[in-house]
Amino acid sequence: MADERIQETPDNEAETADDKPIKQRKNGLYAAVSDELAENMKSGWADTELRGLTALPQAGQTAARRAALSARFPGERLVVPAGNLRTRSNDTEYPFRASTEYAYLTGDQTQDGVLVLEPAGPSGHDATVYLLPRSDRGNGEFWLDGQGELWVGRRHSLAEAEQLLGVPAKDVRTLAGVLSEATGPARVVRGHDAGVEASLTDKVTAERDEELRSYLSEARAVKDDFEIGELQKAVDSTVRGFEDVARVLDRAEAETRGERYIEGTFFLRARIEGNDVGYGSICASGPHATTLHWVRNDGRVRAGDLLLLDAGVETDTLYTADVTRTLPVDGSFTPLQRKIYDAVYEAQEAGIAAVRPGAKYRDFHDAAQRVLAERLVEWGLLEGPVEKVLELGLQRRWTLHGTGHMLGLDVHDCAVARREVYADGTLEPGMCLTVEPGLYFQADDLTVPEEYRGIGVRIEDDILVTADGNRNLSAGLPRASAEVETWLAGLRTA
Ligand code: GLY
Ligand code: MN
Ligand code: MN
Repeated sequence: MADERIQETPDNEAETADDKPIKQRKNGLYAAVSDELAENMKSGWADTELRGLTALPQAGQTAARRAALSARFPGERLVVPAGNLRTRSNDTEYPFRASTEYAYLTGDQTQDGVLVLEPAGPSGHDATVYLLPRSDRGNGEFWLDGQGELWVGRRHSLAEAEQLLGVPAKDVRTLAGVLSEATGPARVVRGHDAGVEASLTDKVTAERDEELRSYLSEARAVKDDFEIGELQKAVDSTVRGFEDVARVLDRAEAETRGERYIEGTFFLRARIEGNDVGYGSICASGPHATTLHWVRNDGRVRAGDLLLLDAGVETDTLYTADVTRTLPVDGSFTPLQRKIYDAVYEAQEAGIAAVRPGAKYRDFHDAAQRVLAERLVEWGLLEGPVEKVLELGLQRRWTLHGTGHMLGLDVHDCAVARREVYADGTLEPGMCLTVEPGLYFQADDLTVPEEYRGIGVRIEDDILVTADGNRNLSAGLPRASAEVETWLAGLRTA
């Protein structure tokens, strides 16, 4: 959209400070603002303050999370920034996505927001969220600043934010002073807000900050009921996105960059129903399916090939799904595609069956890898015995990646949890993880018969650990090869 402030005004270049342009670029592209217009824009605006707002549905949970955090780090100031806009070019920014830690602890997603837990008393903290308040009409900020509300939309007032979040809110422009003047130890979640970090340099250490980040990663491992509901919403939208894709496979085949048609189709569903996609969609047709993170998505979608679609909708609350289906583009698997697909399906079934409370985290990976190793030996691609193959990890030439990961606000959730509580840990009810075995035969892999080359299959589902086993949140999409074919046929004719 054209920036209406930016007009060719050659006369502007001759202006002096006396002309009082509130904002002027070196290249003279801003129109000057007369005193009369500046005065006119200050007034005549209705009071739109919202009163009596109800708190966000997750406000109770965010309060409990802050209380747990407070108990873990008594007597220390804890600072959790949302992050800032990142410049794409000049005055154009990338879409903003609040930091996971900030969203988890506040339910808020406002750029530049900062949660501060201030030590209070021997063992507690007072929480304050620092936010940018409504734009000032008196100084022209709201219509002359690129981040003013006239340009980017109305913000919540601090009083409104307090009602929604259940946390006292203050002006973030006072925060640098507050942090600089404060004494005593502090911790900050690094990597989101360089300005906030700069205000804390003499009060934090890298090691202690890492402990804070690690704690917040581990705290997210077990999801509460609100989070499970959001994850189910993310998955349900993702199921609809996959259905959208199935309906347009013929159309995608007609495009030179059919993978992009698939990507755009799924993205439309993500934007209509959620915030975004939770990660770059992998729309990998034919041999591209053997490239694990194929996000260029610039290839053709051809009948006779498999399309590996790995995509997830991120909800408005920032929880994401992570689902993969490998679909025969023309609706039917060839015998070899089916053989490979069914092996991956069988491995996934074994993996899912190993997800239950009390199981070691690694169990589902081991169960899936065993099935894949067995099939690879059976097909003559590896020499047995299977135990030896597994011991040496030889199946990994074609299985390539771990069989899953935690899922939540981040697609690879809890990523900085300590090994003893994640990879070497034990599953508990409320954990949510992906189970996603795959087999990938690279197009240039001379160790497999030619007909295998260029085939890649992954099946990925989002599995919640329950009190007595697990629940497949993505069961709304078929997985068994015959069911996938029936599902495709139904949507194609719809
Ligand atoms: N979509 C990335 C993954 O499956 O881990
Ligand atoms: Mn995935
Ligand atoms: Mn995944």
